[in-house]
Amino acid sequence: MRIPGLIDPHVHMREPGGEHKEDWSTGTASALAGGVTMVLAMPNTKPPVTDRKTLEATLSLAGSKARCDFAQFIGAGAGNRETAASLAPHTAGLKMYLDSTYGDLKLDNMEDWFIHFQNWPASSPLCVHAEGPSLAAAILLAEVTNRPVHLCHISLRSEIMLIRAAKARGIPVTCEVSPHHLFLNCDDIPSISPGRSEVRPRLASRDDVQALWDNLDCIDCFATDHAPHTPGEKDSDNPPPGFPGLESALPLYLTAMSQGRLTLDDILARCVINPRHIFHLPEQPDTFVEIDPAARWTFDAAKSHTRSGWSPFDGFTLTGRIESVTLRGKVVYKNGEILAEPGSGHNIRSELK
Ligand code: NCD
Ligand code: ZN
Ligand code: ZN
Ligand code: ZN
Repeated sequence: MRIPGLIDPHVHMREPGGEHKEDWSTGTASALAGGVTMVLAMPNTKPPVTDRKTLEATLSLAGSKARCDFAQFIGAGAGNRETAASLAPHTAGLKMYLDSTYGDLKLDNMEDWFIHFQNWPASSPLCVHAEGPSLAAAILLAEVTNRPVHLCHISLRSEIMLIRAAKARGIPVTCEVSPHHLFLNCDDIPSISPGRSEVRPRLASRDDVQALWDNLDCIDCFATDHAPHTPGEKDSDNPPPGFPGLESALPLYLTAMSQGRLTLDDILARCVINPRHIFHLPEQPDTFVEIDPAARWTFDAAKSHTRSGWSPFDGFTLTGRIESVTLRGKVVYKNGEILAEPGSGHNIRSELK
């Protein structure tokens, strides 16, 4: 069965500064192995991407190493409220961190939130990491500044309820959910181990997970939030939050399809059509994924292409497997092997310079 290449609007490629976890070459290999042919990369690198110089450096690394198509977010900081907007055409969009997570991009000052919402062009995506009460703040900011906002990795019943109400009032909000918030809950923490289970937002209750499934019509996108860290880091006394997710996501969705919990249209709306509209992404000609929706197999993190080399879904029995991926007419993945060269991926935004 043939489906379009997937778009993942929320991944962490870790380069520059975190190459021991992932780099553009391994991260985009992981994407292709997961049927993802376009990724939007987050700015919480080291250094973070917040200005022309760091954007240029990151795009240059991506241009020479990426194996799938890409765009790079710029991070909202206290120091770039007036200058970030001029870079908008060269970015995936602006990313704002309203709550604590991995990296140093948290914005504490509400005035910074407001000015960034005002200044970032309404025609370019603005994404927020906002949990609970700050999610309510982000929705109000979208309303009063009259611009769209995309809410990253929402996970709670209270959040999806508020998003439903905001959409009903015509406030321009869209949201994404990550596979770990659909297929794992806090009861899974002991079996994954407490350190490895660390993720932001945290794994939620069974009731929260059920609320996401019950309100699927309000979920615009599925996004992996592929956030690789090494097993050593995850097992340390100070485990960083985040899961790799690119290679398990589509098989998990296909497994849910085999159980009658998702339809193929549900999946393609959230992994291709809606992200393309929300993030203003081009179509990829001659780009598709061959899947065997009936194949039963066991997910083995040791065989994955991400440098992080582990997965919270290790050992899961899945129904639905990716056989091959074709990007712009070239077979880039087949039977477990990556065939795309580093640098063959395209920046889908306008080039800087
Ligand atoms: C992400 C990371 O490691 O970069 N971690 C996570 O737990 N989700 C940061 C983020 O997306 O919030
Ligand atoms: Zn986040
Ligand atoms: Zn993230
Ligand atoms: Zn090319």
